[in-house]
Amino acid sequence: MKLTYLVPLAAFAVTALGSRSTPPNLTFLFSANLTKGSAYIYDQSETEIKALQALTGGTIGGPNFDGTVIGGTALSTRSADGTIRADAHYLIQTTDGANILVTESAAIPYVAVLFDTSSEKYNWLNNVTAWGTPPDLNEINFLEYWQVS
Ligand SMILES: *[C@@H]1O[C@H](CO)[C@@H](O)[C@H](O)[C@H]1NC(C)=O
Ligand SMILES: *[C@@H]1O[C@H](CO)[C@@H](O)[C@H](O)[C@H]1NC(C)=O
Ligand SMILES: *[C@@H]1O[C@H](CO)[C@@H](O)[C@H](O)[C@H]1NC(C)=O
Repeated sequence: MKLTYLVPLAAFAVTALGSRSTPPNLTFLFSANLTKGSAYIYDQSETEIKALQALTGGTIGGPNFDGTVIGGTALSTRSADGTIRADAHYLIQTTDGANILVTESAAIPYVAVLFDTSSEKYNWLNNVTAWGTPPDLNEINFLEYWQVS
């Protein structure tokens, strides 16, 4: 059993190392215009500032679905060198009634994104890795999300 499992994995590793020379494609998924509460700084030192922020709402628009943001939270850490790392969760409710949880992990301004939904219609999102960023860095609450494939 173990061997049959390992052989295809090893083959995959060799193929991946040997052949991956073109970058993946990005396909536009949706945009989000998020509204946030004020940031609550819960830890501060000479090297880091850590903050908790509520995502209080927002609008979602895209080729695949439209919706609103029910709510969410973001935790961020700003380091003395200017690096900002953030982790966020927010819940989208689509106009046709599906709930989609968005999980984000970011080195600002670039965001790695996964989705979780039990909706049959949007089930395909559970198998998507997406990438997001604000198209205009002066408007960081407006983000565009792209499927990586
Ligand atoms: C990206 O899309 C092009 C054109 O459809 C395709 O030829 C290429 O294989 C795709 N790249 C990947 C990594 O899938
Ligand atoms: C985001 O929403 C705000 C408030 O409704 C609006 O003023 C702003 O124009 C929107 N931004 C974008 C890029 O849609
Ligand atoms: C998940 O996505 C990958 C990459 O697009 C694809 O190769 C794979 O078949 C998908 N799996 C399912 C269960 O849809």
